[in-house]
This record gives sequence, C-alpha cells and structure tokens, in this order.
Amino acid sequence: MQVEEELTKLVPERDTLLTIGVFDGVHRGHQYLISQLKEKAERGGFLSGVVTFRQHPQTALSPETKLPYLTDLDERASLLRGVGVGLVAVLSFTPELAQLGAREFISLLKRRLRMRGLVIGPDFALGRGREGDVVTLQAMGDEMDFSVTVIPPMVLDGEVVSSTAIRKALAAGQQGVSVAFDLATHRGYDSDRKTRVDLEVDLERTDLDTSDAEKRLRAEGIVLRRAHPAEIATASRFALENFSAVWQAEVAHSADFCPPPLFIALEADRVVAFAAYDVDGTARFGPMGTLPSYRRRGIGAALLKMCLRSIRDNGYLRSEIGWAGPIGFYARTVNARIHRAYWTFGKSLVD
Ligand SMILES: CC(C)(COP(=O)(O)OP(=O)(O)OC[C@H]1O[C@@H](n2cnc3c(N)ncnc32)[C@H](O)[C@@H]1OP(=O)(O)O)[C@@H](O)C(=O)NCCC(=O)NCCS
Repeated sequence: MQVEEELTKLVPERDTLLTIGVFDGVHRGHQYLISQLKEKAERGGFLSGVVTFRQHPQTALSPETKLPYLTDLDERASLLRGVGVGLVAVLSFTPELAQLGAREFISLLKRRLRMRGLVIGPDFALGRGREGDVVTLQAMGDEMDFSVTVIPPMVLDGEVVSSTAIRKALAAGQQGVSVAFDLATHRGYDSDRKTRVDLEVDLERTDLDTSDAEKRLRAEGIVLRRAHPAEIATASRFALENFSAVWQAEVAHSADFCPPPLFIALEADRVVAFAAYDVDGTARFGPMGTLPSYRRRGIGAALLKMCLRSIRDNGYLRSEIGWAGPIGFYARTVNARIHRAYWTFGKSLVD
C-alpha cells in the first residue's frame, strides 16, 4: 500500500500528537491550529506532527477540478517546518487512500507515526466518504486510546480565515487587503491595519492659478515664493520644529535639485508654511505644513498649487500625493482623487 510505504519512511522518536490537512498557504488560521497543537504536545511530552497531502483531496478525487494552490508542496513543507512542527509527513492522496476507512487510516497513523492524539478543526473529517467526523473520531478515540482535541477556527473581521476564503479573495482581485494580510503575516509581518491612501491630481484639468491668493496674502503681509537655496536649511529646521524629522529630511533633500522643489510662505522673513515636491525625483507632491495659527487663510492651498504648477511645467500630466493625511483638504483644493489604498506591513527583527 503506497500510503503505508510513505509512512514507513518516517520513524518518530517519540509518541506524537498530529493534525491532518492540506494546509495550503499555511495562513494565520493554520498557524493558530498548529500553535495549539505544539502547546498541547509540549505539555504532554509528545512530538508535534502534521500529516499533509501532496495534492488537494478535491483535485485528486475529481481530476477535472482545477484548484489554484496558494503554496506549492515544497513551500508548504518548509513553512510548516518553519513554524516549528516536529514532523511533517507528506502523503499522496491516491484513490487507494481515498478508499481507506477512518478506522484503517487511524490504525496506520497509530502504528507508523505513533499517534496518541489528533488536534483538528470542527469541520474536519477523514476516511472514505468523510466517515470519520469529529463525533465518530471521539468515539473511536475512547475505544482505540487516542485523544481528539477540537480547536475553533480563527475569525478575522467576522470571517473564518481559510484557504478557500483567500482563494476567493484572490479571484475577486482583493489581493491588496485580506490576502496580503493573511499571507504576509504568516511570514512574520504585522500590520497596524490602518488604511493609507495615495491621491492623484489631474494637472491638465485643475485650476492651478494662484495670482489672486498671492495678491491677497501679500496685502496681509505674507509672501509666497520658491525658496532660495540658502533658505533650505531654515525651512528644514521649520519642518523639524513644527512637524517631524522625516519631513525635515525630505525638505533638506530639495537642496539636491536646482531650482529647489520647495515653496515657502514668509511673514517678515520668517517661515510660516512650506510645501515641497519631487524631493525623490518622481513628481510626487509633499510634504507640506502651515503653522497652526496661520491655517485656514488659503496659504496651504496656494503653496500646493504653486508646487503642482511646477510639476506640470516639468512635463507631467498628473501628480501623486503619497500617504496623504488631510484628504478633504486635497480633494477640495485641487480635486484630488484616491489613486490607491493600502496597508503597510512591518517586520521587527529579534535577536
Ligand atoms: C493641511 C494644511 C497644510 C492646510 O494648510 P492651510 O494653510 O490651513 O490650508 P488652506 O487655508 O489653504 O485651506 C484650504 C481649504 O482646505 C480646508 N482645509 C484645511 N485643512 C483641512 C483639513 N485638514 N481637512 C479638510 N479641509 C481642510 C480649509 O478649510 C480651506 O477650505 P475653504 O477654502 O473652503 O475654507 C495644514 O492644515 C497643516 O499643516 N496640517 C498638518 C500637516 C499636514 O497634515 N500636512 C499634509 C501632509 S500629507
């Protein structure tokens, strides 16, 4: 019997606690089940093990079914070992295996893999025609001396995390959100799950004239103009003192270009607002900031338009505003539209 041959290759050095499944994607739901398995195995002095299948039972039983995999066998096995499972048994899901009764399958696992317990999800079933469901297995466990632990599925935002849900999301093109989250986190990435937005401005169809605003502000003692190279240090200090070190660095970067891609608002030679663009050479707008006591006077809108006009004069028809904060401000002043929304992922390194 092929299944027996495959199992013979493995000789566990201790009694085992097993879970069984395809584990396509080794996603967060799988990882949760496996963490419970490992914990229980450690407590009982068992070796934790995963029995997985070379091919999905669904495709093995009806070859005409095309089922896209999230991970191939090699990746699956290495991810399973990566999450610290003591033993990974890979079985071919042959018609012969499909015909095996639940009792025969369990006997094989006991004999070959020294199985003393199963850790499974509530919908799990094994054996011919799924005859070995949770209730049947529990009864069998009493009789054949092995434990059955049922772990509830992991739920995220009201939805059970499953390979099927991830495949569906992929097919529906929702890659950026749920799939990235489910798949990326299993490699140790974490998301703060805040949505970020990049905006887009159509430079051809947006009124970027600022002559009236500039005239009005000048009458109020505020001058708007492009920064001279000698003023970049002052402007970057302004960005640090009133906003952040990241913005300071971005403003300082404008010294790399001539003329500097930086506009400022001055009152009696003192900087009260700034707006930068193209600091990374990609025609993107930002950052910008107005001192709180000078806000809502039209300074921000005018500086923004002056920057966008320069981007347009450089030959661009559109500009992006990356990681935009005040979406309402950009939408109202220059008719900005959402270009993309995304989550960011971070990975902390540990010693
Ligand atoms: C965003 C910011 C630069 C706007 O500067 P400002 O000088 O106040 O802008 P304006 O006075 O030209 O505002 C223009 C219009 O946008 C509106 N507006 C200003 N800030 C807004 C905000 N945060 N959300 C929604 N609308 C806003 C104003 O009410 C005004 O509308 P109105 O003409 O109908 O009155 C300023 O609020 C700021 O420095 N914020 C903190 C830094 C920041 O978020 N920078 C952007 C990083 S992506």
